[in-house]
Amino acid sequence: MHHEPSRTEQHDWETWYEDEAVESMPWFLRELDQDFDQSLKELQINGQRRALDLGSGPGTQAIQLADRGFRVTGVDISPTAVRKASERARREGKKVEFLQDDILHTRLNGRRFEVVVDRGCFHTLPLESRPVYVKTVSALLEDQGVLLLKCFSHLQPGTDGPYRLTPDEVREQFGKDFEILSLRDSIFLGNHKPPPKALYAILRKRQ
Ligand SMILES: C[S@@+](CC[C@H](N)C(=O)[O-])C[C@H]1O[C@@H](n2cnc3c(N)ncnc32)[C@H](O)[C@@H]1O
Repeated sequence: MHHEPSRTEQHDWETWYEDEAVESMPWFLRELDQDFDQSLKELQINGQRRALDLGSGPGTQAIQLADRGFRVTGVDISPTAVRKASERARREGKKVEFLQDDILHTRLNGRRFEVVVDRGCFHTLPLESRPVYVKTVSALLEDQGVLLLKCFSHLQPGTDGPYRLTPDEVREQFGKDFEILSLRDSIFLGNHKPPPKALYAILRKRQ
């Protein structure tokens, strides 16, 4: 099989966060992603639930979740991203736990969350590590816990940046461990104009 190299290694992320202001990064979005917002309302996931923001980067999504009453942990592979996100939370007076963690070698073992959000992390991971991601996220979720997943869509032209996913790939990767509650086209709002085409999935951990 053709072997695709990992798109972005840890040191690349770290260099990126060291060198650039998070506000100018393509994915930066101050508001809560509209798809996450809608899903949390529809699924009536609120209150004091434990939420994990996977690949939390600038930390805006984690902070927005904390604003909505969630008890939030944000994890990122880049120590500088974690530091910048923690500083943002402190500046804004928000209580969020930010930790450095590689989801493919997680140290969160034993922790359990009711909801996990992933806005742009999964689609950057090396293809061969996708099964590890699926098993890890499943283990981090409570029974019936929900993963809200946003990734680049195969409808997005070009090959630069993250991998593009088809709905079939999402079904194939997640279908065994997760019930697919919804899978549809969306967009990635941020600094890219026009916004890249996205796939958005609501996945519920199987019993
Ligand atoms: C496209 S950015 C999105 C950041 C954030 N979710 C947002 O929407 O602003 C992807 C993030 O995933 C992080 N990341 C990449 N690989 C990771 C891994 N193996 N474990 C944890 N985080 C990772 C990167 O450092 C980066 O911050």
